[in-house]
Amino acid sequence: MRLPSSWVATAVLCTLAGQGARAAISLDLASTESIKKAASTVAYDLMRYYTGNNTGDVPGNLPDPYYWWEAGAMFGSMINYWYYTNDTTYNDVTKQALLHQVGEENDYMPNNQTKTEGNDDQGFWGMAAMTAAETRFQDPPSTQPGWLALAQGVFNTQAARWDNKTCGGGLRWQIYSWNQGYNYKNSISNGCFFNLAARLALYTGNTMYSDWAVKTWDWVSGVGLLSPAYEVFDGAQNTDNCTAKDHTRWTYNAGIYLLGSAAMYNHTNGSAIWRERVMGLLNSSEVFFVNGTMYEPCESGIKGCNVDQRSFKAYFARSLAATAELAPFTHSIIMPKLASSAAAAIKTCTAGNSGTQCGLKWTTGANDGSLGVGEQLAVLEVVQSNLVDGAPGWVSAVRGTGTSKGDVNAANGSTHSEESLIMGRVTTADRVGAGIVTALVLLGVTCGCVTMVVG
Ligand SMILES: *[C@@H]1O[C@H](CO)[C@@H](O)[C@H](O)[C@H]1NC(C)=O
Ligand SMILES: *[C@@H]1O[C@H](CO)[C@@H](O)[C@H](O)[C@H]1NC(C)=O
Ligand SMILES: *[C@@H]1O[C@H](CO)[C@@H](O)[C@H](O)[C@H]1NC(C)=O
Ligand SMILES: *[C@@H]1O[C@H](CO)[C@@H](O)[C@H](O)[C@H]1NC(C)=O
Ligand SMILES: *[C@@H]1O[C@H](CO)[C@@H](O)[C@H](O)[C@H]1NC(C)=O
Ligand SMILES: *[C@@H]1O[C@H](CO)[C@@H](O)[C@H](O)[C@H]1NC(C)=O
Ligand SMILES: *[C@@H]1O[C@H](CO)[C@@H](O)[C@H](O)[C@H]1NC(C)=O
Ligand SMILES: *[C@@H]1O[C@H](CO)[C@@H](O)[C@H](O)[C@H]1NC(C)=O
Ligand SMILES: *[C@@H]1O[C@H](CO)[C@@H](O)[C@H](O)[C@H]1NC(C)=O
Ligand SMILES: *[C@@H]1O[C@H](CO)[C@@H](O)[C@H](O)[C@H]1NC(C)=O
Repeated sequence: MRLPSSWVATAVLCTLAGQGARAAISLDLASTESIKKAASTVAYDLMRYYTGNNTGDVPGNLPDPYYWWEAGAMFGSMINYWYYTNDTTYNDVTKQALLHQVGEENDYMPNNQTKTEGNDDQGFWGMAAMTAAETRFQDPPSTQPGWLALAQGVFNTQAARWDNKTCGGGLRWQIYSWNQGYNYKNSISNGCFFNLAARLALYTGNTMYSDWAVKTWDWVSGVGLLSPAYEVFDGAQNTDNCTAKDHTRWTYNAGIYLLGSAAMYNHTNGSAIWRERVMGLLNSSEVFFVNGTMYEPCESGIKGCNVDQRSFKAYFARSLAATAELAPFTHSIIMPKLASSAAAAIKTCTAGNSGTQCGLKWTTGANDGSLGVGEQLAVLEVVQSNLVDGAPGWVSAVRGTGTSKGDVNAANGSTHSEESLIMGRVTTADRVGAGIVTALVLLGVTCGCVTMVVG
């Protein structure tokens, strides 16, 4: 692993650059108050993008061009924001959003989104609910399912989608056959499921979840999406039984598997096998740092990073911080990287009307003109991650500290079948020979659908 020496230099440079004309955010990583203040400025600029609490708008949605999944990811970060800073400013709006989007079956498949929803999209909302349970975020009203039950609802619907007809198992990227990517089995969809299963195992102690985490890990590595050197590749088409792979690597894939492995390491009371996997993923993640500063490979690619991809560092940073807590042997490796990356990231927060909006490329030492939800999210998570040592720690039912209401059978009967979705859209008169026509209508509907990964 790279030694922490580089971050000291970065921090010094940061102080010098901060004396420029634009309103930069000051960040002294030795001061809890300074980190909280910086995080609050970044969070404020982030939440200015959110309009879901305006009259007539839909709670939980972000405006275009942000897809529904990213809103789920964002509210997961806002729970973390409260957890790390103890600032409750956004708690009510976060809770409202997370509850408005649970869907009719309490599994984060609301009718408005279901037809275009992928397993990864649902997974990001499920992981947000899981974070709420782990951090003891304010509970839903007693008449509604608890955060734990909502995470279990997502888990149960996904376990039922495990598909061993091709590639020996795995989840497909898309849930419905009319969406592009239905034949793609990708690491993020399986990674969200693995991550959720591992964290449910840690929280509840129920071996059903750890069995699924192991089964998913075994499949992902067996099929070669996780290499022997612990590189996580993007995905594979089931049309050739997942033989060829898209070898693109993303920070968030490394992060999702890293945190799931750290949860399994902790759940197994420090087993050698999960320790080895945590360490392997951490080693292979070295590629996502340039001189101690976190970076997404698309930042230097010809195509650049799309709207989704600009947020990926957020989930990597968030996973690194939680890993430092759950697998303490990684703490001394991870914390210097979070510090040097935060020091570099905050230097980009000099743009927009506020003069504090952040950019994408932290390695450049200045704002690169790329502004948006993803950019804010990533800087927020990397900055607030530096508060992990002062945070109360994740709770769990196993330790008797977790109080979130669960339901092991949550959403079990919830199938959201293609037939029911199709029938829900056509009138009786249309039904004659409706199959193909309906599929075309649905294809039309899905034109703006999530194209989250495929590099
Ligand atoms: C919506 O939430 C934002 C962020 O918390 C807040 O600034 C704004 O005043 C809220 N708007 C309404 C209409 O409540
Ligand atoms: C967090 O804020 C609550 C009030 O909202 C307060 O009771 C509590 O002591 C604070 N905790 C810390 C660690 O500052
Ligand atoms: C679904 O969309 C309708 C119309 O925009 C909106 O009123 C409703 O709140 C949405 N429901 C959810 C769960 O987002
Ligand atoms: C596929 O999964 C089903 C349901 O879990 C199981 O009954 C079947 O034996 C599995 N087939 C193979 C080839 O693993
Ligand atoms: C498809 O891939 C799986 C997993 O690698 C393997 O077990 C299975 O034998 C393969 N099936 C065919 C028909 O090649
Ligand atoms: C971990 O240790 C605790 C306390 O000794 C024990 O109750 C639990 O069963 C262990 N978990 C596993 C997965 O071995
Ligand atoms: C991780 O890297 C360290 C240092 O290069 C090496 O000693 C260790 O064997 C690696 N561990 C794994 C699991 O790859
Ligand atoms: C890393 O830092 C060194 C020393 O400051 C510099 O020479 C080198 O160009 C940097 N590498 C990259 C990829 O930015
Ligand atoms: C599990 O995580 C807790 C922090 O939540 C930590 O104190 C404990 O040492 C971890 N267990 C192992 C085996 O590392
Ligand atoms: C609910 O789903 C889980 C996971 O798929 C399964 O293990 C469990 O048996 C199901 N419960 C019922 C009542 O079907």
